[in-house]
Amino acid sequence: MENGSGLLNGGLWKLSVLPAIKGRACCVPEQCASSERDVIVMKQSDTAEPSRTDVESPAPGVSKEGGGAVNSSVRTDLTVVVPTFRERENIRPLLEKLSSVLSGLSWEVIFVDDDSGDGTAELVREIAGGDPRVRCIQRIGRRGLSSACIEGMLSSSAKYLAVMDADLQHDESLLPAMHSALVSEDLDIIVGSRYVAGGGVGEWDRSRLWVSRFASRLSRAVIKAELSDPMSGFFMLPREVFQDIVRRLSGIGFKILMDIFASSRRPLRFRELPYTFRTRFAGESKLDTLVAWEFVMLLLDKLVGHIIPVRFILFASVGGLGLLIHLAVLYVCLHLVGLSFVMSQATATMVAMTTNYAINNVFTYRDKRLTGMRFSLGLLTFYMVCGFGAVANVGIANFVYWLDKAWWLAGVTGAIVGAVWNYAVTSVFIWTKPKKA
Ligand code: GDD
Ligand code: MN
Repeated sequence: MENGSGLLNGGLWKLSVLPAIKGRACCVPEQCASSERDVIVMKQSDTAEPSRTDVESPAPGVSKEGGGAVNSSVRTDLTVVVPTFRERENIRPLLEKLSSVLSGLSWEVIFVDDDSGDGTAELVREIAGGDPRVRCIQRIGRRGLSSACIEGMLSSSAKYLAVMDADLQHDESLLPAMHSALVSEDLDIIVGSRYVAGGGVGEWDRSRLWVSRFASRLSRAVIKAELSDPMSGFFMLPREVFQDIVRRLSGIGFKILMDIFASSRRPLRFRELPYTFRTRFAGESKLDTLVAWEFVMLLLDKLVGHIIPVRFILFASVGGLGLLIHLAVLYVCLHLVGLSFVMSQATATMVAMTTNYAINNVFTYRDKRLTGMRFSLGLLTFYMVCGFGAVANVGIANFVYWLDKAWWLAGVTGAIVGAVWNYAVTSVFIWTKPKKA
């Protein structure tokens, strides 16, 4: 817990008696008049009191075992989860906008930052020190928009969860309408859409529009719902709906909404509300070509992930490419450079091993990508743990070559032995296996 227990208990006491002072029993924020909720929120920030997760501790004189009622009047109604990667300049403007549009609600915002290095997490913590509605989750050695959103949502115990970007491209003024639609109607999720009447993509060039539409079409392979904007990253849902789906989420890449729809066992009752995608306020977009690759990974995971782990498919594909590289180098060394077979095979093995490491680091394990010093250390570890594989590779290949002089068969056999070894060992020692729930 971030706050000292003295502060915590003092704060809880004040908050517990607040409804009594006002002469009304009020348990759940959305049942309170908005003015009352404002008072509760004000009291919380006035005293720099704990966030909602903290206030579930017992108040002074109320023991946990004693069955004393835990005050629920301070429950946060809405958590806005904002994934961030290098968004420092956008934090304050976003908070100002959220404060103004959400003033009638009891809300909090959780920034999930992947160790940006530009001071995003530090700034959020600094603000959070004076505002209990603001929280920060800093993930180290991890990357990924979707997984960040999932972890942010898991850390909330609010009744409703919203996800939006930090760069002000999503129109925050839609949040109250999303919230009231969920409160008043029997719906599982509200999606901010750029493609329903009244919405728009702002200043997009043709190519980005085309890519977005093409990706939406591909998503039909895994989403049955008639969503106009499955690529949207702006939505709100009740926490039970999220909890119900969370264990089946892939958490791969950028497309968390598509993941949610594709992972739900039952069709989700949804409503789309229009908004216009604005231009990024500050900083740079993280959308790059690898995001397209992650999109393919997500699609594959949803289509066949329950049969074969998608990482294995990718590792095997990279292995296939490595095999081509291996054979090409082997050919060059043997026939063009004129090295002995053992030397040629050893060289081809080293080259294939290095390229396989680099490609897997970028594609297969992008979310756990090793960079800088850790990349070099990982490569050294890779060489070391694969040393046995390489010896077996060269030994077996040399043996096959000695048997019938078929250089390509010898090369393939050696490479396969090496590849199986590499996958098993590296998934344990270099990029640790993703943990299944
Ligand atoms: N924690 C974390 N980790 N956050 C990330 C990462 C990451 O690896 N990559 C991006 N983000 C954060 C950004 O900081 C930003 O707040 C948000 O995710 C969106 O990233 P952008 O780089 O601004 O992406 P975009 O504008 O191209 O696309 C976004 O908007 C689309 C339209 O709604 C994404 O949210 C798409 O999913 C969405 O469809
Ligand atoms: Mn953006």
